[in-house]
Amino acid sequence: MAYPVWRSRVRVCLGALLLSALPLYLIAQAPAGGRGQKKSPPARRNFLISRAVPDPAAVERGQKLFVADCGFCHGSKANGGENGPDLVRSVLALQDEGGDQIGPVILKGRTEKGMPAFPLTGGQIKDIAAFLRARQQAAIDRNAYKIQNVATGDPKKGKAYFESKCGSCHSPEGDLKGIAGKYNPVALQSRFLYPESHARRGAGGNRIPTPVTVTLASGRRISGELDYLDDFNVALRDSSGEYHSFERGAGVKVEVKDPLAGHLALLKQYTDQDMHNLTAYLVTLK
Ligand code: HEC
Ligand code: HEC
Repeated sequence: MAYPVWRSRVRVCLGALLLSALPLYLIAQAPAGGRGQKKSPPARRNFLISRAVPDPAAVERGQKLFVADCGFCHGSKANGGENGPDLVRSVLALQDEGGDQIGPVILKGRTEKGMPAFPLTGGQIKDIAAFLRARQQAAIDRNAYKIQNVATGDPKKGKAYFESKCGSCHSPEGDLKGIAGKYNPVALQSRFLYPESHARRGAGGNRIPTPVTVTLASGRRISGELDYLDDFNVALRDSSGEYHSFERGAGVKVEVKDPLAGHLALLKQYTDQDMHNLTAYLVTLK
């Protein structure tokens, strides 16, 4: 029982991380009772998805279409079935806005993988998108409710987990020093589940190095830590500390590795207990 619950939480939140512009500390400020507000959706606070709650009439129309056309493979609640993936946790569906992501999949299908094409109208696609959004928001609300219960872990086990899985990028005496003073436990848990890069937030650059590889027109490849990147220039420092900077002309390829990729990979691995243990450990980093 615990397995599907954490799994759905982290997968949904993974998607929510990718799409949400809402500062995550809102989770901490949200009222503990996310439930019981279901009857008046427009007034409902959305925790991770900073988007409007879809129009209930569109959700209902979308649900009918979905059950008839898609439910056979994706499950009537879109949680996935034997022949089609879970669309509540699908990153593509989470990033969708009014059908812009799912529309092309529906219209073209992925026939070689078992997803047929459906010649639906733009209106029908929007309705299905509304239904999927409603399913995602319902899942996220439940999870936001559950995430309150964080202080039940074992800090020793959390420390061991941290040392094996997080220590390559973080240090309790370095970048995470005093982290417990910065965030309350709920916010702290949400920060390691779905951190935002400082670079993405525009707040003074990444503290964690961003790996980059530049391939020049000559075929020469230089890898290191990204120092600067815009449309015209790229600069990096290689492992010997030497600084390189290049113009991004024709034939110059720049591959930036997302420093948060490590977090995304971990999201799929945590058990509920790992999360609680980690939080219990992190709250000791005062
Ligand atoms: C016959 C089975 C089947 C039916 C019916 C079906 N799908 Fe699919 N669908 C699939 C499979 C299989 C995939 C996974 C394809 C892949 O791996 O790329 C998929 C993928 C998708 C994806 C992409 C998910 C992602 O994360 O990449 C979306 C969106 C989707 N389907 C929506 C729908 C909708 C909406 C309908 C109804 C209009 C529908 N599907 C009907 C089998 C089906
Ligand atoms: C591959 C590198 C990597 C790994 C592994 C990793 N992180 Fe991170 N973590 C990052 C990056 C990058 C950020 C974003 C901060 C930044 O851009 O400076 C971040 C942010 C965080 C933050 C938010 C810090 C803040 O000040 O808001 C916490 C907390 C955190 N990570 C905890 C963890 C924990 C716990 C683990 C192990 C379970 C872990 N991280 C594993 C790279 C990593």
